[in-house]
Amino acid sequence: MTLKRIKITNIRNLSQADLTPVSRVNILYGANGSGKTSVLEAIHFLATTRSFRTSQFRHLLSQGAQQALVFARIDPFSEQRLSALGVERDDQGNVKARYDGRTLDSAELASLLPVQVIHSGTFELLDGSPTVRRQFLDWGCFHSESAFITRWRSFKRALKQRNSLLKYGKIDPIQMQVWNREFVEQGQALTDLRDRYLQALIPEFEQILSVLLGDVPIRLGFSAGWDRKRALADMLDENFARDLQHGFTQLGPQRADLRFRLEQKNAADILSRGQKKLVVSALKLAQGSLYRRYSNRPCIYLFDDLPSELDDKHCRLFCDFISQSLDQCFITCVDPDTMTQFWASDIDLSLFHLDSGRLSHKVALGD
Ligand SMILES: Nc1ncnc2c1ncn2[C@@H]1O[C@H](COP(=O)(O)OP(=O)(O)OP(=O)(O)O)[C@@H](O)[C@H]1O
Ligand SMILES: [Mg+2]
Repeated sequence: MTLKRIKITNIRNLSQADLTPVSRVNILYGANGSGKTSVLEAIHFLATTRSFRTSQFRHLLSQGAQQALVFARIDPFSEQRLSALGVERDDQGNVKARYDGRTLDSAELASLLPVQVIHSGTFELLDGSPTVRRQFLDWGCFHSESAFITRWRSFKRALKQRNSLLKYGKIDPIQMQVWNREFVEQGQALTDLRDRYLQALIPEFEQILSVLLGDVPIRLGFSAGWDRKRALADMLDENFARDLQHGFTQLGPQRADLRFRLEQKNAADILSRGQKKLVVSALKLAQGSLYRRYSNRPCIYLFDDLPSELDDKHCRLFCDFISQSLDQCFITCVDPDTMTQFWASDIDLSLFHLDSGRLSHKVALGD
């Protein structure tokens, strides 16, 4: 999947912007507040209909505008056959995604345009809430196993129904039994898919981390959300009184989490900020690498302020790694000199300059 042309209307300070990216490395540079992150936000919006920084769409929509629109020409299978994708969303909450004239639902859009973002908020993968880590894990499962989305939706439904019975305290035993059975069947299948995905992800993560960070023995582990010495069905039975008392299901796959350990301690408590950035980047890069393996298609990477937190050595290692992948990258930085020095002269690279919301010129490396 490669973006060949992007037209942006009403995303933050970009009232109109048009860019023709190259297939590999696109560097967006400009002063603070010029609109670099907004371009990444526009690409993320195209892929997901949402911002990666805020849950409130009104912050993504340009002030005073009623509707945001991002349109792109994309090359879905790297075959030079272009398709049209347009995503629009208005201030009333109406969202529309169209692909070659056909309306897409959110799952279709997500599988069409797999985007990975690395920005200051990505640190939450290490020190944020388990929800962030579950979303990360489930993104990988979604893109690697076609059965995942159905299992995930069925499990969510069973959990919601079970919680609603617990909340109102009027337990119809037949209904409870039905939802318990569904919770166990879907929850176990979901956990098996998560397990399988992690078995592939962990060696990939460790290998990339050793390239980016050297010999720092971080171990990635999985907590399924309950003590797996117990069968999920037995756990539900044993915890029923507690669930009833709290009014919702305490344990299960809805509580799954990833753990990062370094020398028997929580890695987030020990690592420096630069090291944390490399760890979360290695995770995202490992995910992209698995995605390519499963789908035979490249990912789109958005690196917001890539050089921040990194010294020259690690920045170079990062760029070397990106150079060897086949993904399309969009990288923001304030000063282009901090980024352009790290690439081989023959890499497919373009520079875009932003000035007060205007994407004013484009040059290739060496021009
Ligand atoms: N909803 C909005 N409507 C219009 N402008 C906005 C909106 N939200 C933010 N802005 C402005 O858009 C400008 C560009 O923000 P952006 O985050 O893209 O800058 P940036 O180039 O990434 O800056 P930095 O180098 O500081 O990260 C900022 O001046 C910001 O105040
Ligand atoms: Mg920015």
